[in-house]
Amino acid sequence: MKETVRVLIPEDQVEARIREVAEQINQDYAGRSVHLLCILKGSVFFTCELAKRLTVPVTLDFMSCSSYGSGTVSKGIVRLAKDLDEPIEGRDVIIVEDIIDSGNTLAYLVELMKARHPASLKLCTLLDKPSRRVRHEVQVDYTCFAIEDLFVVGYGLDYAQRYRNLPYIGVIENAE
Ligand code: IMP
Ligand code: MG
Repeated sequence: MKETVRVLIPEDQVEARIREVAEQINQDYAGRSVHLLCILKGSVFFTCELAKRLTVPVTLDFMSCSSYGSGTVSKGIVRLAKDLDEPIEGRDVIIVEDIIDSGNTLAYLVELMKARHPASLKLCTLLDKPSRRVRHEVQVDYTCFAIEDLFVVGYGLDYAQRYRNLPYIGVIENAE
């Protein structure tokens, strides 16, 4: 059977929720600037949509990491594939993620970023799968949607690099 994508969260709901979260950030950072760290590639679409709704001054930087499961060990190993272009020391930083699953990626990134002494560090994610969390120390400050344990695509999220461009969040059905 050919794989299909079922809509889980339609475009208008995704955008309305991103506006709400942006408004919260505008209030929390009133009188300050935010430095958004976009985690490539998945969080590109979310970062753009969020940044467009922020009224506080915004700067952006990008980084990329990959995670590997290591055989019998359940803890994922995360590797930095592309570092930020600029230092974050003294800046009010928000890490912007597409989805938090085990939390291994964010746990790694938070440690890495804290060591660079930002003025503050917060986490913002489009999606969270709380039932999958392994790294419970990861505290997320802004979550657009908490979802069940489903494999989702769209709005930046991929299945074998495809479907990132879907303007909604969907679930793959009839996958091989
Ligand atoms: P974590 O390190 O286990 O929290 O995994 C986070 C990363 O796994 C995300 O940034 C995604 O790249 C990927 N991922 C986890 N769940 C999904 C999903 O449902 N769809 C697409 N990618 C996912
Ligand atoms: Mg990702």
